[in-house]
Amino acid sequence: MPSINRNSRILITGGAGFIGSHLAEHLLTLDARVTILDPLEDHSNIAHILPDIQLIKGNLIDQLLQGFELADYDFIFHLAGNNFVPRSVENPVYDFDANLGCTFALLEGLRVLKTPPRLINMSSGAVYGNPQRIPICEDDPTLPISPYGVSKLAAERYVAVYSQIYGLETVTLRVFSAYGPRQRKLAVYELLHRLKQNPQRLEVIGDGQQARDFIYVSDVVQALVKAACHSPAKGEVYNTASGKSVSIQQLVDLWCRLTGLNPEIVYLGKVRPGEPERWQVDIRRLLQLGFAPLISLEDGLKYVLEWYEANL
Ligand SMILES: NC(=O)c1ccc[n+]([C@@H]2O[C@H](COP(=O)([O-])OP(=O)(O)OC[C@H]3O[C@@H](n4cnc5c(N)ncnc54)[C@H](O)[C@@H]3O)[C@@H](O)[C@H]2O)c1
Repeated sequence: MPSINRNSRILITGGAGFIGSHLAEHLLTLDARVTILDPLEDHSNIAHILPDIQLIKGNLIDQLLQGFELADYDFIFHLAGNNFVPRSVENPVYDFDANLGCTFALLEGLRVLKTPPRLINMSSGAVYGNPQRIPICEDDPTLPISPYGVSKLAAERYVAVYSQIYGLETVTLRVFSAYGPRQRKLAVYELLHRLKQNPQRLEVIGDGQQARDFIYVSDVVQALVKAACHSPAKGEVYNTASGKSVSIQQLVDLWCRLTGLNPEIVYLGKVRPGEPERWQVDIRRLLQLGFAPLISLEDGLKYVLEWYEANL
């Protein structure tokens, strides 16, 4: 099994984003040599590690067309893409290019190499849509209900097929609701932000009964590294979650308690198009790689609150 150490040359596509910046930070603690490829103008997520990494500013597809050398790496963590269901509904063409186009271009670049790096691909729980049964297992039907879910599913199937046919070493993580410092969208952040903006009244999308499995970002990073080093890398997929389902109402209650605020709470009823109702996740396959979720939701929210109050 490969390991990550000071000799490891690692590329993180989309590494200037939320999860990628935490992954880069962690890989630096292992003394790995980290390159980030990302077109993002705003480098605030990685400003503190810029002296220790190589940053290539650019779109992955353009870089590959210009001859970007993938053979220089031992591992590629492929995080570049759209991470937001509503954006995929508003602009499915962008989502298609960012998720499927990027992944396909990357696979084509890898296919022609003699010794291609190991690819760790980032997919999403959105591939399941509204699950037919819970907890959701990897072998359950995948019936996405958003353009985002479709592009992620198509991308992960290409990844698996390129493993099977061309022998690439690949593994895919189906990440559920990741959260943590530096994330500036999705339920955990949005609820806190709205509470801080208006401590008297909190409007919540849905009826509060929608349920998610929230996973703290350092646990996602742990899962990425376990998958890179301990999976067979023959195209497998792994659910990546905490294994605990929490309703939005429970999340709201927890935020009110941790912030000490007591707003009037108004549930708006309707959910956004493309958003599933209820997620509860079976993570036994990932546990077999040695993964163990370490951060409870309450502790994770405390870290987010500390970051929010220090930065925003
Ligand atoms: N955050 C979550 O809860 C979650 C859950 C499941 C899957 N994911 C997936 O994990 C990955 C990272 O998510 P995140 O939350 O850190 O998102 P993010 O938006 O913070 O980071 C994604 C990064 O990808 C970059 N990017 C987009 N298109 C690119 C391109 N063509 N070439 C190079 N870089 C490009 C963006 O500039 C951005 O910095 C995404 O693929 C996302 O779909 C996230």
